[in-house]
Amino acid sequence: MKSWQGNHRRIRLHEVAPRDGLQSELAFVATDRKIAFVDALSLTGVAKIEVAAFVSPRAIPSLRDADAVLAGIERRPGVVYTALVPNVRGAERAIEARADELNLVMSASESHNLSNLRMTREQSWQGLLEVARLAHGAGVAVNVSLSCAFGCPMEGDVAADTVLEWSRRFVEEAHARGVTLCDTTGMAYPSQVALLTQTFCTRWPATELTLHFHNTRGMGLANVLAAIDAGATRFDASLGGIGGCPYAPGASGNVCSEEIVHALELMGYDTGVDLDALLAISRQLPGMLGHDTPSQLVKSGQRLDLHPRPADYDAIARRALERSTGSS
Ligand code: COA
Ligand code: ZN
Repeated sequence: MKSWQGNHRRIRLHEVAPRDGLQSELAFVATDRKIAFVDALSLTGVAKIEVAAFVSPRAIPSLRDADAVLAGIERRPGVVYTALVPNVRGAERAIEARADELNLVMSASESHNLSNLRMTREQSWQGLLEVARLAHGAGVAVNVSLSCAFGCPMEGDVAADTVLEWSRRFVEEAHARGVTLCDTTGMAYPSQVALLTQTFCTRWPATELTLHFHNTRGMGLANVLAAIDAGATRFDASLGGIGGCPYAPGASGNVCSEEIVHALELMGYDTGVDLDALLAISRQLPGMLGHDTPSQLVKSGQRLDLHPRPADYDAIARRALERSTGSS
């Protein structure tokens, strides 16, 4: 093993393209294509797939077929099929649809919670407490995604203490199995990520912490690496780097799954993901969406996908050799 590949820590990748990726797409992706998409992702080795959102069909029309998508997918053992849930109505639908996990959603910022969910944070909390009770009663796992945990596009910085207090409520009072800290509009930066990750891991070592970054300002991969160094092992990412919250001004794509897997595997981490399989699906995304994706890896290929030398390479080499033999 090469000396710069010394790390073998298992990193779990959560694929969120079917939810975060598709939620703001203008053209509706047909239900059978969504099902085929999730089924293909199930074979790549990702640990979790966020299949859909059980939200108001008026708020997110592109995911209005969540029930049918959950009903149609083929479930692979070892993959957790999760779904986003903002309220009790969503929880009832998700439990009925046999989601393995309810991914409760609220924002650490009041302005974004009101814009996105039309509730104050306290109103969300009261509803989500009830959601957690319903889920536990049905034997379904609970995770919570805290949006704008690293900054709000309308308020600016969100205090780490605020994020930790909401985390505490969900871990200690709602008994969530996991918490996802979401950087909804790419405001997180590596030193901030390291500090919050470290604090969370120290305070709640038994809770599954996931980091959810958007690459809005090009800091996505740097944030992933900072979080790993600080103790994180679970990451949301979206195939092709698509995604973004339609109710967060300035939002753009998630960190790109294939770019994260490519980088982490080079560094010796074990993601369990078949990168070639992931890339094959990512190349089909423009056909499904009707537009290009931000994936650098689809554009540029993997690090060792080499290019042919120039056509006149042999002549160049010969001339160079003649020059050096002539001058010696
Ligand atoms: N699933 C399906 N329908 C739902 C629903 C759910 N989870 N929650 C509410 N609705 C329906 C209600 O039945 C009602 O329908 P009607 O007008 O036909 O009677 C309508 O939506 C309004 O319900 P209300 O409770 O007043 O919701 P609201 O308009 O205040 O919206 C949310 C609140 C949370 C439902 C909505 O803002 C939402 O779904 N937001 C999600 C946004 C999102 O997913 N953002 C991206 C991810 S971060
Ligand atoms: Zn997101």
